[in-house]
Amino acid sequence: VATVEAVLMAGAIPVFAEIDETLCLSPEGVAAALTPTTRAVLPVHMCGAMARIDELKAFCDKNGLILIEDACQSVGASYQGKALGAFGKAGCFSFDPVKTITCGEGGAVVTDDAAVYAAAHAFADHGHDHIGNDRGAEDHLMIGANYRISELNAAVGLAQLRKLDGILETQRRNKAALKDAMQAIPGVTFRQLPDAAGDSATFLTFFIPDVEKARQAVKSLAAAGVDGCFHWFDNNWHYIRKWDHFRELKAAARLAVQTLPDCPDFRSVQLPQSDALIGRAISMQIKLGWTTEQLAQRVAATVSALKAVA
Ligand SMILES: Cc1ncc(COP(=O)(O)O)c(C=O)c1O
Repeated sequence: VATVEAVLMAGAIPVFAEIDETLCLSPEGVAAALTPTTRAVLPVHMCGAMARIDELKAFCDKNGLILIEDACQSVGASYQGKALGAFGKAGCFSFDPVKTITCGEGGAVVTDDAAVYAAAHAFADHGHDHIGNDRGAEDHLMIGANYRISELNAAVGLAQLRKLDGILETQRRNKAALKDAMQAIPGVTFRQLPDAAGDSATFLTFFIPDVEKARQAVKSLAAAGVDGCFHWFDNNWHYIRKWDHFRELKAAARLAVQTLPDCPDFRSVQLPQSDALIGRAISMQIKLGWTTEQLAQRVAATVSALKAVA
């Protein structure tokens, strides 16, 4: 939902495209949604892992489009050894309290383009150009806002960053134990990972044969004590299906797009392929603090709950 807000706040019109079994924007979906007014493509690397980012990058290069990556949920993840967030013109990270590493609140933008860097730096601080050390003598590159991270938060963030490799190692180990045990359950299949080695492993996402069984599976998992399982189809967090506030463009301030003649009626957005995939997908949170016994219990409870449903 935050990604769509960012597009609207920029005065741009978000156009939705279908996902694939990576659970991220698909190159085919983007191609189908392309129009002469398309300027940028903004994949979200959901739940710790990657879109088919090399294909999206090639598509953008071929069509003269700007690639921006929302890697907020995928810090530490990579594709073929290159960090997610580093493929496009800019990559965005969040360090809010539920992210892999956190500094309370705050985030980061990465780019290798000096002009984008200067614009982001200025926009986040009321347009200041940050030249010299006299704030009153600084010029303003643009009308900006205050998206500054505090130095206290940043200090925590730097310390967290040093822990990232260890965090990823634990997540990957815990996820592998669960995934290995679930391989043999008939009816359970897994989210496609274009590069499994680069998965940050914050979630284990799997598919159940149909939406009703997925609903039942989430209930059975909860009843078996397996917490942290999300069915995004019914959960308002990450999927457009029930974002009525967005469909109706309810905003605190007037949004620029509302006055654009070509702004579509978002109430009629249809994404049948994405509905079918999200309807069957369950994401299980992978925690760092599980003891060996807790992990073993979780593996056993997960397998028996899913065998009974899938
Ligand atoms: C995919 C994605 N994009 C953007 C954000 C927004 O991050 P923040 O709240 O730090 O601005 C989040 C955080 O929830 C996210 O998960």
